[in-house]
Amino acid sequence: MSVLVAPSMLSANFENLGADITMVNESNADLFHLDIMDGVFVPNISFGFPLVEAIAKKAAKPLDAHLMIVNPEKYITRFAEAGVNYLSVHIEASIHLHRTLQQIKSDGMKAGIAINPHTPVSSLEDIIREADFILLMSVNPGFSAQKFIESSITKIEKLKNLIIQKAPHCLIEVDGGVNFENAFSIIKAGADILVAGNTVFTSPNPTDAITKLKNI
Ligand code: DX5
Ligand code: ZN
Repeated sequence: MSVLVAPSMLSANFENLGADITMVNESNADLFHLDIMDGVFVPNISFGFPLVEAIAKKAAKPLDAHLMIVNPEKYITRFAEAGVNYLSVHIEASIHLHRTLQQIKSDGMKAGIAINPHTPVSSLEDIIREADFILLMSVNPGFSAQKFIESSITKIEKLKNLIIQKAPHCLIEVDGGVNFENAFSIIKAGADILVAGNTVFTSPNPTDAITKLKNI
């Protein structure tokens, strides 16, 4: 299976979002990555339900919502109703993570655990069996177009080993600073899904950029 590519809509042109949704629909991309930021868990605010619902109406591919918010458990059902298919919550923001993952799955979505750059892979040991995917942050969450943290490669390898031992069904999504130069090493280390914002949307030809990432 080739790597899945999830363009991050945070880097899309919000003055003409419809055109960028159509571009993703017609491209080789696999998922729409939606970054939800609350200004508390991360030092930035992005967008909420009205925009997610609008994207869901036009999107022909699954929606992958990355919640960078405190108390994510409060909003799980609303994201399911808004049309989200993959939902990740941060381990650093989840007090009852086991229960939260069960709720995401019982609402019919794939359940993901997002981990910040400082959070060790070992913190997933007793919960990874419950997750459909791990979203490994390779920048500090909050902004697009940041530089990839190089030590993330070793961390992806560690996570891949844990998955082989404990949860072979679990996918690895890598998010932050992914570009044409580092994508090969990220995939080689074990990534199944690449999120790409800046690399796709600042490209003169976003459709080709998506294909290029998929074929690396
Ligand atoms: C960062 C977000 C990322 C980001 C990706 O907080 O979670 O999804 O938008 O953007 P790039 O690919 O530009 O780093
Ligand atoms: Zn993200």
